[in-house]
This record gives sequence, structure tokens and C-alpha cells, in this order.
Amino acid sequence: MCGIVGYYGPQNPKDIIVNGLKCLEYRGYDSAGVAIFNKGEFKRVRAEGKLSVLQGKLESEEFDGHIGIGHTRWATHGAPVERNAHPHTVAGVSIVHNGIIENYMQLREDLGEGTKFESETDSELVAHYIAQELKSEPSLLSAVLKVLPKLHGAYSILVVSKDHPDEMVAFKNGPPLIVGVAAGAIIIASDIQAIMPHTKKAVYLDDLEVVQVKGESFKIFNSKGVPVDKAVTTVDWTTDQAQKDGYPHFMLKEIYEQPRAVAKAIAPHINTSTHEVALKDVGLPDAYWATVERVFIVACGTSFYAGSVGKYLIEELARVPVEIDVASEFRYRNPVVPKNSLAIIISQSGETADTLAALRQLKQMGVTCVSICNVKNSTIDRETNGHLYMNSGVEIGVASTKAFTSTLAILNLVALQMAKAKKVLTSENEHLYAKALLAAPAQMETVLACDKFFADAANTLKEYRGFLYMGRGVSYPIALEGALKMKELAYMHAEGYAAGEMKHGPLALIDKRMAVVMLAPSDSLYEKTLSNLEEAKARGGEIISVGTLGNERLKSLSKHYLTLPQANWTINPILEAIPLQLLAYHVASALGNDVDQPRNLAKSVTVE
Ligand code: M6R
Repeated sequence: MCGIVGYYGPQNPKDIIVNGLKCLEYRGYDSAGVAIFNKGEFKRVRAEGKLSVLQGKLESEEFDGHIGIGHTRWATHGAPVERNAHPHTVAGVSIVHNGIIENYMQLREDLGEGTKFESETDSELVAHYIAQELKSEPSLLSAVLKVLPKLHGAYSILVVSKDHPDEMVAFKNGPPLIVGVAAGAIIIASDIQAIMPHTKKAVYLDDLEVVQVKGESFKIFNSKGVPVDKAVTTVDWTTDQAQKDGYPHFMLKEIYEQPRAVAKAIAPHINTSTHEVALKDVGLPDAYWATVERVFIVACGTSFYAGSVGKYLIEELARVPVEIDVASEFRYRNPVVPKNSLAIIISQSGETADTLAALRQLKQMGVTCVSICNVKNSTIDRETNGHLYMNSGVEIGVASTKAFTSTLAILNLVALQMAKAKKVLTSENEHLYAKALLAAPAQMETVLACDKFFADAANTLKEYRGFLYMGRGVSYPIALEGALKMKELAYMHAEGYAAGEMKHGPLALIDKRMAVVMLAPSDSLYEKTLSNLEEAKARGGEIISVGTLGNERLKSLSKHYLTLPQANWTINPILEAIPLQLLAYHVASALGNDVDQPRNLAKSVTVE
């Protein structure tokens, strides 16, 4: 889950690589480093901590070469200290690596006891092996081709060598690697974001492909060294969204972008005149949806919680049974997937390793897979049979916000599409649900007003011992998501519960120092949720409730009452998510935590 970038071209590699690393820092920020050609060798500069520390070190550094590589690290093997920072250099060979070499113990042993390692990483041995091969191989490419079969695991790697200063080689198995083709220059990176400031022309490498850059040209080979013809894609994204625009954090900006993001997510699929729903450009025949007899939703983290809301939506509206799994469980549980099942694969980044592995497993079983991704052309997007997009724009904050609410909107549409195809939805109801979705962005705007409440209350709220989030029905996964946000941002104990489960154990946790966040919108379960709230209050819990405007009883039972506009039950999860995001954001800010880059985490989890 690191970010790697390499540049060969006429410009100063230092600036290009550092700017590339800035775009990749979301992938890990434990340490950073570069190796750039200078006076006949690759000069290495590395620093523990965030990229800004490396930038400080690089200020006084000059390089006279036109080739270099860089890395931003999320530590897997070895502590997050400078000696474990990439690039790793052995006998003039420098490498940067994203991923995990699974057989590194064996490979280390095979190198023999005489081999000196300067780090505890699994990555350094790749430099040792390539350096060893280079003693007899004529090019960096041929040395890499010799080493490639020895490596097991997930990796994307960039290599340079002082003895081959006109050559850069990159190869991958698992994590993404993209070759940007600019005028007179090549830039290779883990994410298209690092490439787009220079060119919109890109080649997405497939697993076990090797790219050799020589001067301004490049060639792609398979793992046996046979040349491969690959199409150069033109990327239709823009980079202009990745600015804070006056917000103190990307996360806050992204919370505020949600109404627009949801509007963009649903726009292609709802006819605003007729209020008809039809999923557009999915890549599957329209008739397909009627054939689906069971749905499997597979995802991780926040995307999993979005999928959990999807289960309620699809089962209620389309009457099709839905199973939902976290990808890391699904891939190892030997699931039984009946014929005519549809798998919905949800991933903001489109690169999450467990989700990707589950997708590949499902495809091997012959299951039709539709992805809901934010990053177009990501590995998951490219490998699924059908494609839906969150259309949220770039999400920088490690804590996912706008991708979550956009996914909820898309899942509404999937449920409606399937319900229509199954002929269990009247056109009257179709229009009603479509109108509810179209109204959601404006309603979300009004919910953003609770920002002020949480900003003011954060100093008091941060004193709680922990947070219990409760909800029923579609609000239950939102309670889980709210707790995840609090954990990842505020580093506080937080749990989400189905409100009806409280009396089966968690009630014992409640006292004056435990905040109880109760999701109680006006829906068919409101009265039952209210009873659960009474139970929590009777035990001394401090209630923060999120409910529909005008619910006086809810208000009277709560210490703090945050209101949502009156909305359809299908829209409530989208609205409820916003106060919970703001609650976690402000508590974390009040605690002085790094909101955009919480400790120990990374935005894109490309390792198991
Ligand atoms: O890119 P993905 O949607 O596949 O990512 C899945 C999770 O890693 C992600 O949602 C994670 O839980 C977020 N940090 C939560 O805010």
C-alpha cells in the first residue's frame, strides 16, 4: 500500500517525482524517499515520516540527471524508520516497491549468510537479486526477467541502475502500475493522479508485465520477455478537484461536496422529466437484470457498510435475496454461489487487494460481476463485466465520505433497476423513489448545517470514554459506518450496534461517560428505536440523536438532537451519514489528530 513513481525525461526529476509522491501520499505516509541520477550514480535521499520531511531534506539537493524513482511508504515489514524507507539500493541498483513479497524469508535464506541487509523489509532483497543478475546480464530488463519468476506475492516495482543510466524497468503482479506517455518523457506511477499533470495518455500494465523505458520510448513484455502490444488509453479525468479550496482539510471539503457528488452519481440514470430509472452504460444487456436470482455484495470497510445498506434496499424493493461479505472473509470461506447470481463489487479506489481477489474468485466461478467504483480504469473497474461509477471526483481524505453517500445513491438505483426488471415495482413507485433520489442533494445541503453544532460541541464530546452508535434497518449499517469514522479519525473506542441488540450485552457499557448516538429517523421502525433509546437513557447514557425534523419526543429524550429533513426511507441513510462524518471529523480535530491522514492507515489498501 505504498506509492511509487518513476520519471525519465528532459525535466528536473526531483520536482516531478516529489509532486507525483504528493498525489500518492494517500497510499501511505510512514516514510518517503527518492533515488535520482546525479554525477554517475543514483543519489538516494530518504526520510522517516511524511513527505514534507523529505521535501525539507531535498530543498538543498541538486541532481544533474534526468531519471529517478520515488516512494511513499505504508510499513508492512520493518518499522517505519529511515533505514526501512525506500528506495533500497544494492551495488548501484535502486528499487521502490509497493506490495508484499510473500516468500521473502526463503529468498533471503537463498541469498546466503554472507549477504548484508541494511533494512528489515521484504523489498530490499529484490535489489539484491537484480544486482546479482546484472553481473552477467546485458540489460536491466534481462536481469529483471531472470528475477521475476522467483518473486511470490503482490508487488509493483520500479528499478534503476547506475550501470544502465538510460534504462528504467517496472513490473507488477497485483498492485496497479500505470505508464504515462508524455511528450519526450515517460512517467510511471501507482495511480493515474501522479501522471495526469503531465499527460492524459496512459497504458495500464497487467499482471506479470514488464515495461522497459529507454530514453523517451518504452516497450512492454510479458514475464517471458515476449513483446506485448498494449493500447494507449486517453484518460478523461481532471486533476483540478484535488485542492483544499479554503477548507482546513480535504475531508471537510469532501463532506461538503457530497450533495454535488450524489447528484453526479445519479444523473446518468434518472430521466428528470419522466422520473424513470434506467441504469446507463453498465455494459450488460438490459434484459440481464430480470435473470438475477441472488445477489452477492463484496467490499471492505466503508464500502462494505454501503453494501450493507444495499442489502436492505435490494431485498425490500426487488425481493431478490442478498448476501453481503467483507472481501477478506469471502475469499477464504469457500462460498456457495448459485447459478444466476450477480456479484456487486464495491470499491472507491478500485484497487483494494481483498476485494480484487474476491472479484477474481467470483469471475473464475463464472459469476457476472458489476463494480461500483470511483476511480475509473482502476483494476476492479477494468476486470468486472459491468460498471457503475460513484462519480464523486477524487477523494483524498483517508476517511471515505463522498464515495460512501454516492454509493448509497447508486445502490438505490440498482435496487430500482432490478425491481423494475422483476416487475415488482409499479411505475408510480418508481417515480416516487426517483423523485426522492433527485431531492436528496438539496436535502443533504440542509443537513450540512449541523457542522456548526459539532464544531462548537467537539471540545465537550471529545471527553467521552467512548461512543455507541445504534440504528435499526437501513440505519444499522450507518451506525457501523459512524463508529468506523470515529475509530479511524479520533482513535476512540466506538461501536455500531443494531439498536435491538443493546439489551443482549452492550447495555452494560452505558454510563454517563458513554455517548450514545441514536439514529432514529421517522420510518417504520421509529417507535421501536425510541424504546431502545429509552433503555439507554434509563442507564444514564448521554444521547445524541439524529432524527427527522419535528420529532419532539426524540428531542425530549436526547441531550443533543440533530435533525434531518423528512425523506423517504431509502434516502435516510444518505442523510444520516453526514452528521456522523461531521461528529468524527470535529472530535478528531479537537483532539489535534491528523484528519486527512490518520495514523497507521492508508487510503488504498493494496495488500492483504
Ligand atoms: O477503496 P475501497 O472502497 O475498496 O476501500 C475500502 C476501505 O479500505 C475503505 O473504505 C476504508 O475503510 C476507509 N478508510 C474508511 O473511511
